[in-house]
Amino acid sequence: MNERKTLTVNCSGHLEIGGCDALELASEYGTPLYVFDEDYIRRMMSVYSNTIDKEYGGHGIVLYASKAFSCLAIYSIAKSQGIGVDVVSGGELYTALKAGFPAEKIYMHGNNKTAEELEFAVDSNVGTIVVDSALEADRLDELCASRSKKCNVLIRVNPGVEAHTHAYVQTATPDSKFGFSVANGTAEDMAKYILAKENIVLKGFHCHIGSQIFEKQSFVIAAEKMMDFVLQIKQSTGFEAEVLNLGGGFGIYYTDEDPKLKEEDYAEYLKALCETVKRKAWQLNLQLPYLAIEPGRSIVGEAGVTLYTAGAIKTIPGIKTYVAVDGGMFENPRYALYQSKYCVVAAGNMNAPCTQNVTIAGKCCESGDIIAADVPLPEIASGDILAVLSTGAYNYSMASNYNRNFIPQAVLVKDGMADVIIKKQTFEDLIRNDVALERLNSD
Ligand SMILES: Cc1ncc(COP(=O)(O)O)c(C=O)c1O
Repeated sequence: MNERKTLTVNCSGHLEIGGCDALELASEYGTPLYVFDEDYIRRMMSVYSNTIDKEYGGHGIVLYASKAFSCLAIYSIAKSQGIGVDVVSGGELYTALKAGFPAEKIYMHGNNKTAEELEFAVDSNVGTIVVDSALEADRLDELCASRSKKCNVLIRVNPGVEAHTHAYVQTATPDSKFGFSVANGTAEDMAKYILAKENIVLKGFHCHIGSQIFEKQSFVIAAEKMMDFVLQIKQSTGFEAEVLNLGGGFGIYYTDEDPKLKEEDYAEYLKALCETVKRKAWQLNLQLPYLAIEPGRSIVGEAGVTLYTAGAIKTIPGIKTYVAVDGGMFENPRYALYQSKYCVVAAGNMNAPCTQNVTIAGKCCESGDIIAADVPLPEIASGDILAVLSTGAYNYSMASNYNRNFIPQAVLVKDGMADVIIKKQTFEDLIRNDVALERLNSD
């Protein structure tokens, strides 16, 4: 089915992921179920790290952007692949450390890290903190002073590159809440501000222009602008960046509106970045910075599939047919957030021709609770297993207990075997942090 063999159709006409029959997974673990293909994740991590080795002499690091999918298992995989991770909250940091992830290979992001999160990061000896406000720089400096420590920081810079993607996932527009702008001079001001601090050590700069981007040129322009900025700061302060982190953002295939990229295509994206940085370093007479990239979606997105059971089917004559499933915006809020599109298949009837267009609705009390609108499918009956593809990124990590639904469990599949990596929630889990106030029940 897909180019990189995550998915196949077996001789029974069933969808197979990582060698596991989707119907058997659904019957063994129940639905909704997140399924992740381990080999796919490892291959994508390797593609990036091999490219840094080959095209950049290994003078860099791949940081898996764990906001895409964070749980103990994914940090264990990243650790065994020898790559780093980026985290964006105390919770992601805690999970990474609990998985035994080496703190020195963790980069910590966040446009408003709390005082507690900064303390946690410093006390855990996180390798690098990406600073995104003057307040944060002040707090970090004080924290480090109080502990007689130094900590390495990058500054999040907004190079002002507009990428063609959904407005909500563009992060380097002039009005972005992220970073300090090169254009309005605040990035240079922040570099000077941090260089004057005693306990935080400026190592370089970071940018991330957005997500689900396919234009190589956007990445190349951002890299060029960042190298120009490195020169600007060298000229104005004498400080020359040792580290350049160019963020993530490589797009993936959701539907036929997106290109279907192969592993070599992702290697090409990164090669273009490596070449740009090398060329600019040579042209501007700068040292070659240690290069970091932060892919999230492209590592786990296509590795994931969500399985559902079709429930109520409702046709509104002349308008549309809804197939309601046992999931919804509580486990995949991306349609509600960005009207995201997905490919949906009948997992037990993969060879049947599509005869209708239907809308896959969730079970939440919201009209906007849609998983996929207007998708072609064969005839569907209640009880059929549907699979929504490319759900590995920003689905589980954005899930909630809205309407007190359970966040589904997740399995990791490999060579026809499945292991639970996130357990089923229970009713007890849902009220775990609720407090039954005596005085409310006293009459
Ligand atoms: C700072 C940063 N790095 C990396 C990423 C990962 O982006 P993607 O999942 O598109 O690769 C994001 C996503 O929002 C981000 O904000």
